[in-house]
Amino acid sequence: PITSIQASQRLDSRGKPTVQTTLTTEHGIFTSIVPSGASKGDYEAVELRDNDKTAYQGNGVLHAVHNVNNVLGPALVKANFDLSTQLKAVDALLIDLDKTSDKSNLGANAILSLSMCAARAGAAAAGISLYAFIAREMGATSTDFVLPVPFMNVLNGGDHSGNAMAFQEFMIAPVGAESFADAVRFNAETYACLKGLIVKKYGKAAIGIGDEGGFAPPISHPSEALDLLVQAIEDAGHTGKIKVGIDPASQSFEKAGEYDLGFKTDTAQKMGSGELTRLYRELLDKYPIVLLEDPFGQDDWDAWMQFNKDCEVELVGDDLLATNIERIKMAKRKAACDSLLLKINQIGTLSEALAAAKEAFSYDWSVFVSHRSGETTDDFIADLTVGVRAGHLKSGAPCRGERVAKYNRLMDIEDELRARGLRYRYAGEGFRRAHAS
Ligand code: PGA
Ligand code: ZN
Repeated sequence: PITSIQASQRLDSRGKPTVQTTLTTEHGIFTSIVPSGASKGDYEAVELRDNDKTAYQGNGVLHAVHNVNNVLGPALVKANFDLSTQLKAVDALLIDLDKTSDKSNLGANAILSLSMCAARAGAAAAGISLYAFIAREMGATSTDFVLPVPFMNVLNGGDHSGNAMAFQEFMIAPVGAESFADAVRFNAETYACLKGLIVKKYGKAAIGIGDEGGFAPPISHPSEALDLLVQAIEDAGHTGKIKVGIDPASQSFEKAGEYDLGFKTDTAQKMGSGELTRLYRELLDKYPIVLLEDPFGQDDWDAWMQFNKDCEVELVGDDLLATNIERIKMAKRKAACDSLLLKINQIGTLSEALAAAKEAFSYDWSVFVSHRSGETTDDFIADLTVGVRAGHLKSGAPCRGERVAKYNRLMDIEDELRARGLRYRYAGEGFRRAHAS
């Protein structure tokens, strides 16, 4: 049984308050801290903020903390679930107490912190690792595990940095590595080479980083970013083994059906989805791109559908889908994309996130696990990625503690699997099909 639940207000990686919850059972003490996005979609579950302008510019989460300590927590203790087998019941209770479809009453941040703690406590009660617990919740039948390709966002733009670059993320994906540890090395070496290139080209003052640990040099056209990546990959000696992914996060610069690539400057640079499509096609032709996320806004269905028709790269829906099963079903009906970005705080419970992943897999879509730009050192999503068998994740650059915490945990998992003589492999080139193998 749960002996105590205690929530507190703590900080995320941007210095904004977030919810930390600690749940205690006879098996141990389990702590979770929730992340927070900057380029949030309209269809996400609601993160409860105090809106008290006298503290943290209104960003405090004391109401959410109160809701854990006085409403959700006590109800969960009273329900006396067997956490080793009843995660769904835990989450159903939390959803029920909130009573809204977007968790705006008690807060998705409050609810998620408990759902994560319950999973951790459940794994401990079952005597297994969190990734194995999540695999069991997924109904996994495979006896091996898949370590993901780490898509590392090494050049930051959009809402995550102060440069003029409209596109939010430029990621490197070491699909040609032999193991997860090897993949981390490939990326870290490339990141170091990228830093050298930026110093040479833009001077030492240009090596400042954005919210996700990637550099944010004074560049504005996506080609400039991709040229830098291709050169850095070559300098590191990994040409052919590291591919590239882009998340423009285009919702951040969409307004009334137009996309303004100059949205961070004084000069507007508006284009319709047709012109933006042509830009993507040029980039896909010229660079080793394997993944494109949110190329269009969350309601620009026609552009998504057109683009997906003959798109060879993985087309990932983030703001489009918001880890929401109704949105996922709609996107399937419209054939708008073929990959789900999985962010547990977009939906607010682990069970619902796992149901979203299962739905995506049932269409033979891929699943791409993601951090948020406002993170903490909580490494939950590392286990989530292995448990879901997602084949790839993004957790930012190999820089900043809250980003590397996830990569370090994944290296721990790889070591643990090896030490225990369990079967596992690195997803590599087959990252889109890891679930099916
Ligand atoms: P966010 O960005 O966490 O700021 O929403 C991440 C993403 O768009 O994938
Ligand atoms: Zn995104």
